[in-house]
Amino acid sequence: MCEPMKPAPPVTSARTEPYRRLEVFVTFEGIDGSGKTTQAELHAQALREEGHEVVATREPGGTPLGEQVRELLLNGRDMSAWAEAALFAAARAELVEKVIAPALEAGKHVVCDRYVDSSLAYQGIARRLGVDQVLELNEHAIRGLLPDRTFLVLVDPATAAARARSSDRIEREGEDFHRTVDRAYRELATMFPDRIVTVDGGRPPDQIAEEIRGRIRQLS
Ligand code: ADP
Ligand code: TYD
Repeated sequence: MCEPMKPAPPVTSARTEPYRRLEVFVTFEGIDGSGKTTQAELHAQALREEGHEVVATREPGGTPLGEQVRELLLNGRDMSAWAEAALFAAARAELVEKVIAPALEAGKHVVCDRYVDSSLAYQGIARRLGVDQVLELNEHAIRGLLPDRTFLVLVDPATAAARARSSDRIEREGEDFHRTVDRAYRELATMFPDRIVTVDGGRPPDQIAEEIRGRIRQLS
């Protein structure tokens, strides 16, 4: 005689969907004066209002060492292109190790004003070091930690120049350089279409922020 069938284990607690990572790492990119800092701030504020824990940071900088490197990079003497790329990567390595990775591990959202794409656009393309070469240098620094989404705020370089607030060593480069960086960013968006989302920065800040929130909601 057969054994009576044992009841199936309860399934109510069984997970039927894949685990969803709740924390999101978002970066903002664009030429100087594009409005990316404004958008990074609005995004961090919106996340906080929704009750999320948020770590908002910026590059170059975001750590005591990074701020010192920032000073060297933006207000220091002229330097070779590889020295510049290596210093940006050094500041980034410190930021990833001390701020970004621990925040994500603690389940917080991370919003960063500029990240590795800045180096790919400015040093890789505009300074002609090569995207692959600068990415290779940075892969060690960021330990493979790429953003979940990168918002590239696009505006005409003339509009951006009129808006720009500061004038550092890199911003003092001529109009041609900034046009090249603009083209470089657009090229990066076509190279990394799954990660980089372009937004029209010519609209009022709140309208841009609303679009970005909508796109982030699609992620979770
Ligand atoms: P970035 O970080 O790209 O250099 P910021 O966010 O600091 O740019 O903005 C530069 C200037 O432009 C600031 O005075 C800011 O108030 C203004 N600004 C930012 N976004 C917009 C926008 N969408 N339209 C008009 N002005 C803007
Ligand atoms: P930032 O402080 O973001 O200037 P702004 O907010 O006015 O746009 O950045 C400083 C400058 O450093 C800016 O001209 C871009 C440049 N930069 C690089 O060239 N490579 C990099 O990797 C980063 C992070 C910034």
